[in-house]
Amino acid sequence: MTDTRTAPGGTLALSPDLVLSRAGYGAMQLAGPGVMGPPRDKDAAVAVLRTAVELGVTHLDTSDFYGPVTVNELIREALYPYPADLRIVTKVGFRRGPGGSWDPAASRAELVAAVHDNLRHLGVDALDVVNLRIADDDRAPVADRLGVLAELHEQGLVRHLGLSNVSAEQVAQAREVAPIVCVQNMYNLVHRGDDALVDLCADAGIAYVPFFPLGGFSPLQAGVLDDVAARVGASAQQVALAWLLHRSPTILLIPGTSSVVHLRENLAAADVVLSDDERRELDAITAG
Ligand SMILES: NC(=O)c1ccc[n+]([C@@H]2O[C@H](COP(=O)([O-])OP(=O)(O)OC[C@H]3O[C@@H](n4cnc5c(N)ncnc54)[C@H](OP(=O)(O)O)[C@@H]3O)[C@@H](O)[C@H]2O)c1
Repeated sequence: MTDTRTAPGGTLALSPDLVLSRAGYGAMQLAGPGVMGPPRDKDAAVAVLRTAVELGVTHLDTSDFYGPVTVNELIREALYPYPADLRIVTKVGFRRGPGGSWDPAASRAELVAAVHDNLRHLGVDALDVVNLRIADDDRAPVADRLGVLAELHEQGLVRHLGLSNVSAEQVAQAREVAPIVCVQNMYNLVHRGDDALVDLCADAGIAYVPFFPLGGFSPLQAGVLDDVAARVGASAQQVALAWLLHRSPTILLIPGTSSVVHLRENLAAADVVLSDDERRELDAITAG
């Protein structure tokens, strides 16, 4: 299977051992309502994961936060032994509390435990990429926290390091500590606050991986988006994803879905061609 697959949208090589399909898959939606397990339909969740891999996805985004643990266990059940070219990106820095709260968990002991938990739940000896996920209002320096993960990288437990929900300043701080391969922040057609960071990542050869590329829990809505979609004969979701792929050469997509139909549609977005005029119209959409 591995030899015959074609990566949707082509690939971005961040390192010889980290070649990611530009259209990937984010697994959070598989956890179930409220991102708390159990999944709504476990067989359907397994089918989504297997279809993503069959269609050439080599970039799978996950975390022990999702379920918690449910999604990593699903990934292992659906895909282990993993295809040689599949890269699984996880994140640490939070834990789920009783009732589903998202609680920061970024002490040394918590970060070390989270890496070991992810290794165990995914069934691997080393994690391909670990993102340090920062809390929304936390703009404190990240060097110490990233340093813990850098030690785990030195120990061979983590191959590559990334950041999530960070400012440009925190990216710069982190890069003083260790190489950063990816930044995963909220960004989409109507939430453009990270425009400068998107460009900075492209210049630095860092992948910029937008979370909520389709708006997350609040689906993207814009008249211009619907107009362009009707003109190019694609869905609004496909146009929103195609716009992201055009936006920067180091943007990687990880749209989430619990539906095989939507998964196929999202991966096919890599083939949607937007003219310069259409891109300009979409560029003009703002959150206002
Ligand atoms: N680093 C972070 O802090 C962070 C935060 C949030 C998410 N993430 C990651 O980013 C990934 C993407 O974010 P997300 O899943 O929250 O949001 P998203 O990709 O923006 O949107 C997902 C929503 O869109 C729907 N959808 C997907 N494809 C569709 C299509 N073709 N047509 C119509 N509806 C469609 C899904 O419903 P259906 O299930 O019905 O398709 C789901 O409700 C997550 O899966 C997760 O891996 C990271």
